[in-house]
Amino acid sequence: MSNACGLDFGTSNSTVGWTRPGHPAALLPLEDGKLTLPSVIFFHAEDPLVSYGRAALEDYLAGYEGRLMRSLKSLLGTSMMEDSTEVMGQAMPFRKLLAHFISELKGRAERAAGTTFTRAVLGRPVFFIDEDPQADRVAEQTLADIARDAGFRDIEFQYEPIAAAFDYEARIQQEELVMVADIGGGTSDFSLVRLSPERASRIDRREDILANGGVHIGGTDFDRALSLARAMPLLGLGSKLRNGKEMPSGQYFDLASWHTINLVYTRKAWSIVMDNYRDAADTAMLDRLIRLIRERAGHWLAIQMEAAKIALSGTDRTDVDLHRIEPELMLSITREAFDQSIGKLVAKTEKTVQDMLASAGVKAESVDTILFTGGSSSVPLLRQRLGELLPQARRVEGDLFGGIGSGLALDAARKFG
Ligand SMILES: Nc1ncnc2c1ncn2[C@@H]1O[C@H](COP(=O)(O)OP(=O)(O)OP(=O)(O)O)[C@@H](O)[C@H]1O
Ligand SMILES: [Mg+2]
Repeated sequence: MSNACGLDFGTSNSTVGWTRPGHPAALLPLEDGKLTLPSVIFFHAEDPLVSYGRAALEDYLAGYEGRLMRSLKSLLGTSMMEDSTEVMGQAMPFRKLLAHFISELKGRAERAAGTTFTRAVLGRPVFFIDEDPQADRVAEQTLADIARDAGFRDIEFQYEPIAAAFDYEARIQQEELVMVADIGGGTSDFSLVRLSPERASRIDRREDILANGGVHIGGTDFDRALSLARAMPLLGLGSKLRNGKEMPSGQYFDLASWHTINLVYTRKAWSIVMDNYRDAADTAMLDRLIRLIRERAGHWLAIQMEAAKIALSGTDRTDVDLHRIEPELMLSITREAFDQSIGKLVAKTEKTVQDMLASAGVKAESVDTILFTGGSSSVPLLRQRLGELLPQARRVEGDLFGGIGSGLALDAARKFG
């Protein structure tokens, strides 16, 4: 029995994989037979029940009172990590929240595997935090401490795109120079790697990894951009106060970002909304905002915006039903409007790839393959722009939600035997 696993704690989805002798790497079922556990927790207000994953989202959407947490990974390395949030009338440190989730992930994987995992290779983005190496180290250290508290004794880290490369390498016949583009919920991570069946068996892969790059932009940022461009203006963003000044925008940013939605429900935020209401030139839009806050529907709205974004990967126009904000309120969004809202984010992602190629001294023509992975690699504009940077490269789609976990499982078998 192997006591080592690979653990991909994602901003949106998490997986755990293992490799038994004589078997290929495999992901473990974590929720009703499914191989991913959405990184979501719901604390019920009326009883000590805590639900995770899809069940957490369902409980929240079914209208149970409680507190929903998503995008917990986005807190790593930020000052919010030392703060608490209110859960059932008590202060719950964010660190403890993350620990709850990682322990649950480990427990579910162990029950599915019928063994105890004491060693783990944890995936990590190339940068948890952009341009701040100290904060980045703190983020990794915090995640390691939490994993240790959850019962992992030996912990190693691997870059998420390298893990995706290892998963792909198990399926190729010849040597290829591959650029991995892992566009997830929180970060876009890139690696330039030389892969081949022969190289796959080497323990030390340092010379095969030509460069890594990353930027703190992912699907949750696309959700935020779309929400700020199209939903928040319906709630008063960009409207005027009676004195002619712009409506303060802080609460709209909190409401549009998955990991700060709950801040809008605090007493402090409420008093700001009341002040703005008093000063607003037209209160109709703030009535909607107040209704949303009273109904604790911030995550509901974010879920609608995320669903619209996902729909726009496959269609040119989608309609969003916003009845919880105002009966019969509908919002129609075109692919063009979505593309416009994420234009700057996509440009930054392109620049990250260009910088990585330059730092490795690799010409675009010499890259054989682009491997797309991560849920947000389905965003058409992003896929098109990244593809254009390497026009000669073959475009391959990996296992968008499972590739990293499987690659980490392979790595765990190599590192821990
Ligand atoms: N068809 C789609 N089109 C656009 N975006 C999608 C699609 N399917 C999923 N997504 C987005 O992909 C993201 C989740 O991807 P993934 O599970 O790879 O992220 P993660 O591994 O949890 O995050 P990270 O690796 O950044 O920590 C979410 O933001 C989700 O909205
Ligand atoms: Mg990921």
